[in-house]
Amino acid sequence: MLHKIMILEKWRKAMDSYVNGTVKTDEKTISVRCERGKTLLAVLRENGILLSAPCGGNGTCGKCRVTVSGAVSAIEAQEAHLLHEEEIEAGIRLACMCRISGDFMVSIEKAAMRIETDYRAVPYDLSPMIAKKKEGDMSEFYRDGILVERVLGDAANLGLAVDIGTTTVAVYLCDMETGTVLATRAFRNPQAAYGADVISRIDKIMKDKKALAEQQRLISNAVREAGISACGERGLSFADVRAAVLCGNTVMEHIAAGIDPSSIANAPFTAPTLFGAYYSAAELSFLENEHSILYFAPCFASYVGGDIACGMIAQGLDACADNVLYIDIGTNGEIGLSTRNGLYFCSAAAGPAFEGAHIECGMSGISGAIDKISLKDGKIVFHSIGSGTPLGICGSGLIDAVAVMLETGLLDETGRIVERDEAGKYAAYIDEDETGASIFLIDKEHSVYLTGKDIREIQLAKAAICAGIYTLLDKAGLSLSDVSSVVLAGGFGSHIDKASACRIGLIPRELEDKITAVGNAAGAGAVAILLGGSPREAARTICDKSDYTELSGDAYFMEKYIEEMMFE
Ligand code: FES
Repeated sequence: MLHKIMILEKWRKAMDSYVNGTVKTDEKTISVRCERGKTLLAVLRENGILLSAPCGGNGTCGKCRVTVSGAVSAIEAQEAHLLHEEEIEAGIRLACMCRISGDFMVSIEKAAMRIETDYRAVPYDLSPMIAKKKEGDMSEFYRDGILVERVLGDAANLGLAVDIGTTTVAVYLCDMETGTVLATRAFRNPQAAYGADVISRIDKIMKDKKALAEQQRLISNAVREAGISACGERGLSFADVRAAVLCGNTVMEHIAAGIDPSSIANAPFTAPTLFGAYYSAAELSFLENEHSILYFAPCFASYVGGDIACGMIAQGLDACADNVLYIDIGTNGEIGLSTRNGLYFCSAAAGPAFEGAHIECGMSGISGAIDKISLKDGKIVFHSIGSGTPLGICGSGLIDAVAVMLETGLLDETGRIVERDEAGKYAAYIDEDETGASIFLIDKEHSVYLTGKDIREIQLAKAAICAGIYTLLDKAGLSLSDVSSVVLAGGFGSHIDKASACRIGLIPRELEDKITAVGNAAGAGAVAILLGGSPREAARTICDKSDYTELSGDAYFMEKYIEEMMFE
């Protein structure tokens, strides 16, 4: 009897430690049961709801905002510091800081994100990774002339090209028979729940080996779902997807392949593999067809990945007679220089400022972000994505903001925001923070502004990229006047204003008229490798003719970096 009572008591205690919750997103409402004391972020993750957590749940970025009611922990100083008073009054909490103490309800708004899927690419002849032949009433599929699959009837021959960015993912469903892109899908990288940047995601893997399998599962599931949805849109079967080409930065490719990338984050920063290799797509759970293959694009180095190789191949820069700069700005500014003597690469640690991280009112390029700022009739005007209430400022807006501040004299060449009495007719745009330091008011009504610390982050980022450009030119024995064109790749490149980028010194002014944005060049390259023989051959050889410069130990880079920190 006593034994039974003890068991009952144990059971009662165990049940007491569980609580009920309701989670509302834009798409669904679900009921969850979870342990008391867990953070909301952990509970959401356990239930498959992936909230962006740029600082990896360390309570420092303030971006994991959710609206909560019910029994949760009281707000503490660190969390309160990252929220506005009105937000706290409205029940907004940081999911990584807020702990469950009883039954609760949480709402998550998912803002739509701008993701670039369009691109410009050089043409190539159709010669798909998997070739199809009709033999009587059978369809035969060949890879490099070897029969890999026979199916009854006239089966489609489909492929996926996948660009896995740290923040966003683009998937292209291609018809390998006709060489056309049938449908595209773009979405946030679900691994963002493990941190905004590659270092946070590696950090999670180093602390818990299960995080590698979990991050691999998240990306393979998301790509598979995107493929199924794209096939559904065209009335096709996902089982007919027979090949996929995947590109991303070196860390993203490792995680997608289920290979531990930890060594990339620790000296001497070497990658376990640089890919340019085939894997079983079904084994890695990206595709369904058991014969399907998955090609991982070649990476140049630990910090110059397969996305850059694909982008350069798509632009025909793997073998180019002109001197062309290729720039892809993300957390790292990855820079390539194509010359008749070979390819030069570097990766400038720009930091996440242009993605809105580490900026007080920063946010990614989603609805509500101020993305353009200009001077009009003596007034500073702005545009926000979705044209709704401004909630913050994204990378393209930051570049414009600094350009406008320089133009109006609100920022001096050292990066100091002037005081109100120095601001002349623009004095209304200057205010002071609680320490008395000047801040630049972009939208006073909605409290969107830039601080001196924000300007410092932008200075560091722009100086790193600009100094990287000069360093590659120096390695190749070239000067700015030798550059025939500048290719800006990626979504960010498509949205920034060229004049502003040159005004703030992100790109040398002498190159302004030579800049062309090409959209998602990495995605274009993945499509080209899937469908074209010459792009596939280029992928096989591109790393052989490349020269990688590690900037952290480069004296010329350091000298230029310090020089470029200033504004003109
Ligand atoms: S503050 Fe919660 S994830 Fe950064």
